[in-house]
Amino acid sequence: MCGIIGFTGNIPAKDVIIGGLETLEYRGYDSAGVALLCDGEITVRKRTGKVEELKKLCADMDNPATCGIGHTRWATHGGVTDVNAHPHRCGQVVLIHNGIIENYRQLITEYGLADDIISETDTEVVAALIDKFYEGDPVKAIKKAVKVLSGAFGLCIMFQDIPDTIYCIRNVSPLVAATSDRGSVIASDLTALIAYSKDYFVVPEYHLLTLTKDGIDVRDMKGNEVKPQMLSVNWDIASAQKGGYPFFMLKEIYEQPDAIRNTVAPRVMDGMPDFTDDGIDDSVFENIDKVTVIGCGTAMHAGMVGKHLIEAKLRIPVQVEIASEFRYKNPIIDEKTLTIVLSQSGETIDTLEAMKLAKANGSKVISIVNVKGSSIARESDYVLYTHAGPEIAVASTKAYTVQVAAMYLIAARMGVVKKLVSDSETKKFMTKLINTPNIIEETLEGANDIKRVANHIKLSPDAFYIGRGLDYTMSLEASLKLKEISYIHAEAYAAGELKHGTIALITENVPVIAIATQEDVYEKVISNIREVKARGAYVILISMDEKVDDVKICDKHIRIPKLDPEFTAFATAVILQLIAYYTSEAKGLDVDKPRNLAKSVTVE
Ligand code: G6P
Repeated sequence: MCGIIGFTGNIPAKDVIIGGLETLEYRGYDSAGVALLCDGEITVRKRTGKVEELKKLCADMDNPATCGIGHTRWATHGGVTDVNAHPHRCGQVVLIHNGIIENYRQLITEYGLADDIISETDTEVVAALIDKFYEGDPVKAIKKAVKVLSGAFGLCIMFQDIPDTIYCIRNVSPLVAATSDRGSVIASDLTALIAYSKDYFVVPEYHLLTLTKDGIDVRDMKGNEVKPQMLSVNWDIASAQKGGYPFFMLKEIYEQPDAIRNTVAPRVMDGMPDFTDDGIDDSVFENIDKVTVIGCGTAMHAGMVGKHLIEAKLRIPVQVEIASEFRYKNPIIDEKTLTIVLSQSGETIDTLEAMKLAKANGSKVISIVNVKGSSIARESDYVLYTHAGPEIAVASTKAYTVQVAAMYLIAARMGVVKKLVSDSETKKFMTKLINTPNIIEETLEGANDIKRVANHIKLSPDAFYIGRGLDYTMSLEASLKLKEISYIHAEAYAAGELKHGTIALITENVPVIAIATQEDVYEKVISNIREVKARGAYVILISMDEKVDDVKICDKHIRIPKLDPEFTAFATAVILQLIAYYTSEAKGLDVDKPRNLAKSVTVE
């Protein structure tokens, strides 16, 4: 949440900063701002709205500064106003922040800062505090301030009287840094660094970084120099650009076949699931008697799909937990529980904290993470990286299907290790998993049909998704997707449960998207569809039927390829993503940046 970038080098900083903010905008877009340091003067420009607005505000700026910082905000403390936008200035200090300073009110009182601050933000208090402690030694002032801060922070700080230098420090909130022949750059996410270098490092917590054009000095709090562990990005800048698509979300939907191929293929050895290269030892699976799955939003929904598979195939109980709920529970888990944590970003704070709680209760944790070196990846016992490449659209698509694929890989390996599934059965399963990218490609061919469906949905204030079993799970993700990007109120309902209340909301023309891909409950779902159809619903049926002509069942039929029941999730997901996408597009909305949301949720 909130995107931050800092640059100091031998080229003008303004364009670097604003360009970086454009790539980081999915982290928040309530306001944006930039600060440029040149000849002992720091110029700050900031305004509410997206980075586009900041760009306009800075259009007349001909500032030769080669050092600067920039921020794109997702508001937490204080409304969406120009004055609350970052950077914040106090005396000699200008800074940007990602995170939440929990004790900011206390600090105002304790250090008498009330007269120094003009915004409602927690961030400005940090600027005031550092300025108060500053007597010519920036490192000393920052260290002194950081010692009294509680909460999460990623900070980039400039001092008016220290030329061409940016100081950075973090706790929990992510920061990555890189050097290049053009200078040193730091940002909350890799997407902003990739234009400068493919080699980067994750800033260690509570280490102070000094960025100059010649390099980055990293020191622990005692002042000892530290050599950070370098990592390399395995995707290029094109992956973080739209590549001709109108929105990132559509591009990412179409990237799913490759994302799954890249995630599954390296984990198949002689037709069997294999985690040797991931360093996940079979012993992790040997003695477990249950599984707890933790995540937020779409990632949690991917875990739910995994639950269906593990319970049906292996008969091992799986509990799926919402991370923000789990972390304040007294969880019933122990060393015989395997915890699987799902997170695209690897930075979602609730997921991270829930994972720590699971570990503290003796459970071994495997994380399924897309971003290399992220906090969740680092702190879990084992990590199974998904290889979806950067996901920029706020609404998750390719990260979801690769998470499902990773859950399927884990289920397959668990079945082998625990001798619950024969090798030949496992090989058949793996062949189907390897084939899912082709299934998705086939499904994507029907995209145009879905546009017509979206044109109906866009007219309605409400929509309902119904299904049973796995299809109910798919409904949950589908309704989330529609809500977040089209602002249509959508509900997912277990088809058989509808008649216990929610059917009262079904009136003439209300869209009901009915998913009926599971053979064992197919007829039951059809009966439930008849119930809503009889009340005037406009039914869109998603099923494997070759053709459905019966107007008593549906107004529109979308066919998915013929598949085994446990593999329908991949095809269904793509259809549901496209329904949400085209509805949002048809409403003329900013599909990639839905209101009030952000991609990486680093606050509770
Ligand atoms: C936000 C995003 C969702 C995502 C969720 C969890 O709400 O908008 O797309 O599913 O966070 O994020 P994570 O990075 O942990 O998967």
